[in-house]
Amino acid sequence: MKIALTGIKPTGILHIGNYFGAIKPALNLAERYDARYFIADYHALNSMKDPHELKKCIFEIAAGWLAAGLDPEKVVFYRQSSVPEVFELATILMAFAAKGLLNRAHAYKAVMQENIEKDNDPDAGINMGLFTYPVLMAADILLFDSDVVPVGRDQTQHIEMAQEIARMLNFNYGEELLKIPQAVIEEEVAVIPGLDGRKMSKSYNNTIPLFASEKELRKLIMRIVTNSQSIDEPKNPDDSQIFSLYKLFAGKEECEALAARYRAGGMGWGEAKEELFRVANRGLLPVRERYNELIAVPEKLNAILEEGAEKARVITAKTIARLRRAIGIAF
Ligand code: ADP
Ligand code: TRP
Repeated sequence: MKIALTGIKPTGILHIGNYFGAIKPALNLAERYDARYFIADYHALNSMKDPHELKKCIFEIAAGWLAAGLDPEKVVFYRQSSVPEVFELATILMAFAAKGLLNRAHAYKAVMQENIEKDNDPDAGINMGLFTYPVLMAADILLFDSDVVPVGRDQTQHIEMAQEIARMLNFNYGEELLKIPQAVIEEEVAVIPGLDGRKMSKSYNNTIPLFASEKELRKLIMRIVTNSQSIDEPKNPDDSQIFSLYKLFAGKEECEALAARYRAGGMGWGEAKEELFRVANRGLLPVRERYNELIAVPEKLNAILEEGAEKARVITAKTIARLRRAIGIAF
């Protein structure tokens, strides 16, 4: 079976953009691939310097994956930090990653651009973890001979960089030591809109947390920004983030029926939001309940992740041995 791998950074609570854009597509893929899914905790360290906060986030993401349906018997599920081979491969890859390549990384460039606009030193607040982020991510991926990497559209550049770095290394040794991975982006759900219509993201503070209580969920949905069309006016469902979110939770027939009501006029945004709340709450309730049970027993979560790490290390030890021999570090 081919290999699928992805990771999520524990830098905040999961939102429905993460769920539909990353977790669900990855779990669907796990039906057809040998899946390795992990918590990218060392990637999170670049921005999360509060140890309590980081620890809390790690458990939340772990519980999130499991609540969403990840079966640790089928998927190798682990923390990046529990697999030291990742860091050894990252060191090897550093020798093949061109600085010019990393200079072009969007995440790093965005921070630099912001600094320049504010007349700050261009490097203000930029640590080497952020600058070398794509190398560590390439190590995550290449270590497992991954065939496909399910990610959101914002991550495509990182996958391209992993390909580039792997090619540089393979070229140097004249053999395919590292498999070239491919990104998998589910077009349907490529960008989930947030409360303000921009991409849902914790950086924009426009998210609907996946495990929001019923009350909180309702409050957030009522906060979705709309235009000033009156109740009577016909509305275009394809132009509404309320409807885009509705489609994530509703069946085909429900979607068609509601789209017809949008187009006919006579339904205001308030009612459209009520409809969204109804289907969202229906869909999220079982996930929320499982999550609450899991997060209450952190020792169990830890044991699951440790078991996953042991399985992961059987795989990664082989890759590292292969590379060490090839590069002349082991004899
Ligand atoms: P955030 O933008 O909130 O910081 P992350 O960057 O931590 O989210 O994203 C984790 C995963 O979820 C990534 O694979 C990313 O592509 C996906 N993702 C995040 N937000 C969205 C969204 N609004 N739509 C689709 N996928 C998303
Ligand atoms: N960079 C990814 C994100 O921000 C997280 C990540 C780290 C990842 N390592 C990975 C994703 C390897 C896929 C494969 O969402």
